[in-house]
Parts: sequence; structure tokens; C-alpha cells
Amino acid sequence: MPKAALPTELPSERALLVGIEVYGRKSLLGLEASLSELAQLADTAGLQVIGEIHQKISKPDPNTYIGSGKADELRALAEETLADVVVFDDELSPRHQRELEQKLGENVKVLDRTALILDIFAQHARTREGALQVELAQYEYRLPRLTRQWTHLARQAGGAAGRGGTGGVGLRGPGETQLEADRREITERIVHLKKELEKVRAHRKRYRLQRQRNAVPIVAIVGYTNAGKSTLLNTLTGSQEVVTADQLFATLDPTTRRVRLPNGKTALFTDTVGFIQKLPTTLVAAFRATLEEIGEADLLLHVLDVTHPNARQQAQAVAVTLDDLNVHDVPVLLVLNKVDALTTDLEAEARLNLGERFEMGVPISALTGQGVEALLERVSAELYSNLVPLKIKVPYKNGQLISLFHEQAVVDHVEHCEDGVELEGRIPERLAPRFRPFVPRARRAAATRAAPPPRR
Ligand code: GTP
Repeated sequence: MPKAALPTELPSERALLVGIEVYGRKSLLGLEASLSELAQLADTAGLQVIGEIHQKISKPDPNTYIGSGKADELRALAEETLADVVVFDDELSPRHQRELEQKLGENVKVLDRTALILDIFAQHARTREGALQVELAQYEYRLPRLTRQWTHLARQAGGAAGRGGTGGVGLRGPGETQLEADRREITERIVHLKKELEKVRAHRKRYRLQRQRNAVPIVAIVGYTNAGKSTLLNTLTGSQEVVTADQLFATLDPTTRRVRLPNGKTALFTDTVGFIQKLPTTLVAAFRATLEEIGEADLLLHVLDVTHPNARQQAQAVAVTLDDLNVHDVPVLLVLNKVDALTTDLEAEARLNLGERFEMGVPISALTGQGVEALLERVSAELYSNLVPLKIKVPYKNGQLISLFHEQAVVDHVEHCEDGVELEGRIPERLAPRFRPFVPRARRAAATRAAPPPRR
């Protein structure tokens, strides 16, 4: 895995990872798999992982999260290995964080999974909305955690929000003045950021409404981080524009591209931020507005890295996140990606692991393009499966609707009359309401008579 490029020439900080398994607590990944994911997150953030410790506990210690003996062990290991940072795989409460900082001394920074993910997001935000969302999430996360250590470390490096920050891992983003400022000042900043976000979102909403009016179907690509979503979007559009990398969360801001389907129609494909187990609640809240657009899509492509040993758990984490986002009504097509890297052994493992999902999924390689044509066939079949018959007469002044019919319908008959165009064909069900006002009155009345009485 290539090392993530740091935004500065600073040597990478040396990190120790801490994994915890709490007996009886349901978790998607086991201790080992979760720690290996944390190592990948650390690598993406630019840390050099130099060791790890773990502990199984019945419940977190009220002071140090891990037991106090284990915390002593961690301190000794940090001293011995000259660690700059320790990263906990769970989200630490502000109290845990304070106690651990005291225990480990001022030369060791204490981070958790959430801080790491926030840091990666801060590095990868490209659009104004993305940067605002991350900055807001970072302030909300840090506000209750303002301790001597944070301000001390921030003073050493400082930096602005987004890519430019150089405060080291976990501290990139809001810079020294804000961190040293009192709570009131930060709270004011949070209020300001929320207002700015409202403005950006209002603008995007107008754009979205415009898109809906154009009625081009929207296909949202979702999936676990690193599953290959951006690679797929690039392959579909034959472009290299979308950032792809063997890094977690390379894509932060939604990218939308127009793609021609095999049936000659077009659809908009949009690539979204990757999901991950234990997705920090602050981030889900911050990105909710972006993520909720997934619910407005006509179809979801759930891209799964079929070669990953934890593919099943990753698929489950995606399902849980979609559920959290209240996305229930959009049809989902499962895409088994990276089949080019599927050896016989891996395939057997994946079959066993994924069970029915393996049989149902559409196998592709986003990298080589294998299976992508067949995937597009499935996409058009899904988008154009619910066609309803339509016979309408549209006045010439409604040119946009006439074009929409030609763009989206299976056209059976067109006749140009003096007062408009008679159109006959089949149209996707989701568009039918747009044409309803142009159904001749006699037909509408007949349809109403034929309709069953409303249920109470
Ligand atoms: P996030 O931005 O983290 O959500 O990732 P993503 O899902 O957009 O993944 P991306 O497209 O950046 O790909 C992640 C890594 O997987 C890159 O190194 C890709 O080259 C690799 N990859 C993607 N598709 C394939 C594939 O079909 N086969 C193989 N072998 N590698 C692939």
C-alpha cells in the first residue's frame, strides 16, 4: 500500500494503536480486523504505525478506558518506542481523553478513531461544502475536549482548515487561534459555519430541483471505503477525473457524471463518500445532508470489494448506514467488484462468506472494465422496468415535456396536430405524474371511474 502523501515535509509521526474488545458489545468486525482497518486509516492519515496493544474488558474503565495496569503498559511501550501518538480504536469520551493524556505525559498525543477519520476528511475535502462540513464536525468534536495538550500541540504547528493545515495527524484543520480561544468563541464559529452551510445547501437544493425537472434518472454509487466506487465512475465515463487511491476516503464530495446507457437513454451517476463501520456520529450528522441525497436516487449501486476478507461485514455496515439514513425505498443493485483479483481460493471464500449475496451480485472489475457493459444492461433494465402506458396530447408550448417524452419513453406513436403533439408509448412510472395533466379528459374520467374507492 503506498504511503499517503503528507501535505508537508514533516516526518511521519510514530503511532501505537490500541484495540479494545468489550465483552457482550455487538461489533461488526472482530478485534483483529478492526485494528487492521485502524492501521489502514492511520496510514492514510500519514502516520507510521510502530506497534499495537489490545485488551478484552468487561466494561471501559471510567478513567483510562483500558484498565489502569494496561495504561501503565501503554505508557512504558510509548516511552520505549518513542511514540508520538496513541490511537484508540473506539471513540473516547472527553474524560477518557484527559485522563489518558495525563497518564501518558505531554509528549504523547491521544487520538481516537473519530479524530483520525476527521483528520482524513480534513485532508480530502475539495469543495466548499465538504470543507465546511468537516470544519464543523471538527469543532463539535473538539469543543468538549479542549485540554492543555490540544492547545499546546496546536501552538506548535497551527494551520488552517482543510488541506493546508499542518498541525499533525488529528490536529489538522482549525488552527491555533481558534483552539486557544475560549469556548464562547468556538461556539460562535460553529453558529457561523452552520449558517454558511445553510447557504451552500440552499444553492445545491436549487440545482437538485433543476435536475429533477430535467428528469434524468439518478444512480447513486455507494459502498464501503476503498471498494472501488470512484474507479467504477471513471470507467463508466471513460475519464480519469475522479480521484481514486488505495486510501480510505479518497472521495469526500459527491461527484456526478452523465452516462449513456445501452438503451440509448442517459442517467446521472453519482459517487458518494465511502462508509465504514463505527462511522463517527459527528460525521454522520455533518454529512447527513449530502448523504440524504442517496435517498432521492432512482437506483443504488452498492459496490462491494468481493476480494476483501471482511466483505460480508462491510456489506452489512453499508446496509446499517443506509438504514440510519432512512434510505429504504430505493432499489439496490449489488455489484461485486475486483473480480480480476479473485483467485480460485478467494472465490471459494467469498462464496462461503457472502452466500446468497454472491449469487445475486453483478460481478465486475471496475479496473479492467470486465462486466461493466453487463452492469449497465442491468441498470437500464432496473430503471426502465416499471413502464406505464401513456397516450397524451401536449401543446407545442410545452416543448420541454415533449423532449422529456422522447428522451425517456419507449415511443410507439407520434402525431403532429394543429394544437399539439399526440404521443403514445410507455414511460417510467416515476415520470407518469408529470404527464398526467395532458391525458385527454375522457380518458382521465374513465381512469377515475375504474379506480377502486380510497381505503380508509
Ligand atoms: P473511497 O474514496 O475510500 O470511498 O474509495 P472508493 O470506493 O472510491 O475506491 P477507489 O475507486 O478509490 O479504489 C480503491 C482502490 O481499489 C484503488 O487502489 C483502486 O485501484 C482499487 N480498485 C478499484 N477497482 C478495482 C478492481 O476492479 N480491481 C482491482 N484489482 N483493484 C481495484
